[in-house]
Amino acid sequence: MTLPKAVAFAHWMIAQNVRPGDTVIDATCGNGGDTAFLAEAVSPSGHVHAFDIQGEAIQATYARLKKESLDSYVTLHHCSHERAASVLTKMESTGVRAAVFNLGYLPGSDKQIVTSASSTTAAVLSYLHTFSPGVPVIVVVYHGHPGGKSERTAIEHLAAELLEQEVRVLRYSLEFQEKAPPYVLTFEKIGEDTPHLSELVQAYSHISTKG
Ligand SMILES: C[S@@+](CC[C@H](N)C(=O)[O-])C[C@H]1O[C@@H](n2cnc3c(N)ncnc32)[C@H](O)[C@@H]1O
Repeated sequence: MTLPKAVAFAHWMIAQNVRPGDTVIDATCGNGGDTAFLAEAVSPSGHVHAFDIQGEAIQATYARLKKESLDSYVTLHHCSHERAASVLTKMESTGVRAAVFNLGYLPGSDKQIVTSASSTTAAVLSYLHTFSPGVPVIVVVYHGHPGGKSERTAIEHLAAELLEQEVRVLRYSLEFQEKAPPYVLTFEKIGEDTPHLSELVQAYSHISTKG
């Protein structure tokens, strides 16, 4: 066997969980790699909601989807990922079968625009709170760029704050590598009774609003 790198592992997890007809979220569409993968997985009757704060990323993703004839399976949202719960209908939100984040900057673009600890943690919590138990929230963590370490610290702090009776966390990481390769954190709510998670959603939405 060949141990997969982080993105390949994230795609493997998606393939285990997502079926044609499902609704899924790409929280950071970038150049559309994950969006296209998700669109293939849910087609011909499912749908992908893809988010990005950069117009350039929305355009790049649209161009890729169009080229691969996958555009009809995707709605592109030019806004921050923590707004998903207000952008999707209640029926869409509760029916989501997987969400994926690919943190960091848009490859080949302005490296100053990166995902931020506050919006990433708020979005992860809001997704866990809204989605059904058993739905994976998959986060590919890039920590080699400036700002990446503080975002990694924030998401790991959040993971440690969750109660294991409410949410399970899987870490997939290739170890003893020379560079700082990305790794994967996957969060999965176990049941519907999650009072501690509800408290964290409130606490972190306040942090996110403050910036
Ligand atoms: C590493 S790239 C994503 C790569 C993409 N998944 C792909 O396959 O090409 C990270 C993206 O997150 C976007 N981003 C940063 N903050 C965001 C936010 N709050 N909400 C949604 N997207 C965000 C950036 O604009 C960038 O395009």
